[in-house]
Amino acid sequence: MLRRMTALAAVVLCAGKGTRMKSEKAKVLHPILGRPLCAYPLKRALELGASHVVPVVGHQAEAVEKTVRALFPDAPLRFAVQREQRGTADAVRSAEEALKGYSGRVLILYGDVPLLRRETLEALLAEHDRTGGPLALVSTTLEDPTGYGRVIREGGRVARIVEHKDCTPEQRAVRESNAGIYSVDAAFLWKALAGIKPQNAQGEYYLTDLVEMAAKLGPVGTVEADATETAGVNDRVELAARARVLQQRINEAHMRAGVSIQDPATAYIEEGVVIGPDTEVGPMVTLAAGTVVGRGVTLGQGSVLTASTVADGTVIKPYSVLEEAKVGERNVIGPFSRLRPGTELAEDVHLGNFVETKKARIGKGSKANHLTYLGDANIGAGCNVGAGTITCNYDGVNKHVTELGDGVFIGSDTQLVAPVKVGDGAYVGAGTTVTKNVPPGSLAVSRTPQTTKEGWVAAKKARRAGKTQAG
Ligand code: UD1
Ligand code: CA
Repeated sequence: MLRRMTALAAVVLCAGKGTRMKSEKAKVLHPILGRPLCAYPLKRALELGASHVVPVVGHQAEAVEKTVRALFPDAPLRFAVQREQRGTADAVRSAEEALKGYSGRVLILYGDVPLLRRETLEALLAEHDRTGGPLALVSTTLEDPTGYGRVIREGGRVARIVEHKDCTPEQRAVRESNAGIYSVDAAFLWKALAGIKPQNAQGEYYLTDLVEMAAKLGPVGTVEADATETAGVNDRVELAARARVLQQRINEAHMRAGVSIQDPATAYIEEGVVIGPDTEVGPMVTLAAGTVVGRGVTLGQGSVLTASTVADGTVIKPYSVLEEAKVGERNVIGPFSRLRPGTELAEDVHLGNFVETKKARIGKGSKANHLTYLGDANIGAGCNVGAGTITCNYDGVNKHVTELGDGVFIGSDTQLVAPVKVGDGAYVGAGTTVTKNVPPGSLAVSRTPQTTKEGWVAAKKARRAGKTQAG
C-alpha cells in the first residue's frame, strides 16, 4: 500500500438544529450512552491523529462549543460558525478560515453519526492514499436508499453523486448510497467549494457536487461500510436505536476480552471504560466514562460508577454508587454504599449498607459496615467504625477534618465533631460526642448516666387503671 503520510485535519458538521428531536437542546448535544452525539466523531478524528479538528457549529453554537471544549480540553480544536444552514458545502466552507495555511487531507464527518468505527475511517484514508485522487468517500448499500445521495458510476468508476430529490427514476434504483463521509485534499477542497452553486431541487449548496469535480481530476476511492455504522440520528427513536447498537458493540468487546456480563441488554458501559478480565458485571450496572475496573472484580446489580477506579478482587455489592472514588484491592463495598469524590480506600476495606464517604482516605483493613457518614476524614489501618457513626465535618461555614490513627475502635452512634483526632489504638464508647482529641491508647466516652426506675411500667398501668375507674 502506498502511504503518502499526508497530514490530517477534520471538519465535523455540528451546526444542524435537529428539528425532529423536538428539543430545546442542539441535536449533537443529546447524549448517547452517556456522551453527547458529537463526542463520537470528534473522538474518532482525534484518535486518527488529526492535527486540527474543526467542529462547525451553528444552532446553539455557544452551548455546543462549551460542551465540546469541556469534553476534549487538550484537543487541537478550532471552532467555525455557520450562521445559516445553506447546505453541507456551505457548512464545510465555513471551516476554511479555521484551516487557513493547512495543507494535507481533510476528513469530513457528521456530528450526528455516532457509530462510525475508527477502522472504517482508517480504510477510507488508506483508500484515498491508494487511489491518489483528490477525494475518497464512504458508501453504504441500502435496502431502501430513499433520501440518500446515490453513488453514480460510469464504467465502474465513481462519476458523481446525485441527491435523491434530483435523481432520475433510473438513478433512484441505485442502492449504493453516499454516507456523507469524505477524505479530501485541502487545496482541492477550498478551490472546489468556491465553485459550488445551489442549482438543485433543494436550492442548497451540496457538498456532494465535489465528487463530480474530483472525478474529473482522478479516481474517486470508495470504502463500503455497513448501514448500521453510517446511520445518523434524526429523532429520539433513532437516538435510542443507535444507543442500542453502541451498547452492544461495547459490551461484546468487553466480553471477548474476558469480562462476564450477566445481562448485556441492561449493562450500560460507556466508551473508554477499562475492565479487567474475570470481572463480573451484574444487571443494570452503569459504568460511566473515566472508570477503570481491575481483574476479578464483582460489580453487583444496579451499581453506578462514574470516573472511579476499582482495583483487583473487590466486590461491589448491589446498588452502590461511586463517583470519582478510588477503591483498592479486595474491598467489599455495599450494598447501598455511596462513595463520593475524593474517597480513597486502601486494600481490604469494608464499607457496608448506607455508608457515605466523601474526601475520605481509609487505610488497609478498616471497616465501617452500617449507616455511617465519613466526610473529610483520614482514617488509618485496621479501624472499626461502629454503626451510625457520623463525622460532623461542617460547622455551617467551613469544612473540617477528622483523623483516626491505626487500630481505632469507634463505638456505635458516635459523632466526631471536626476538627478532631483520635490517636492510634484509642477506643470511643458508643453514643459519644467526640469534641476533643483522644490520645493514643485511651478511652473516650461522653454519655448521660442512665437512670433505671424498677417497677415503673406496672406502676404507670395501675395509675391509669385507677383514673379510668374514677371517670
Ligand atoms: C447528505 C448528503 C447525501 C448523503 C446523506 C447521508 C449532501 C448534499 N447530501 O444529505 O448525499 O446521502 O448526507 O446522511 O451533502 N449540516 C450543517 N449545515 C448545513 C447543512 C447540513 O451543519 O447547512 C449538517 C447537518 O446537521 C447534518 C449533516 O450536515 O449533520 C448532513 O446534513 P443533512 O441535511 O442531513 O444532509 P442530507 O440531506 O441527509
Ligand atoms: Ca441526514
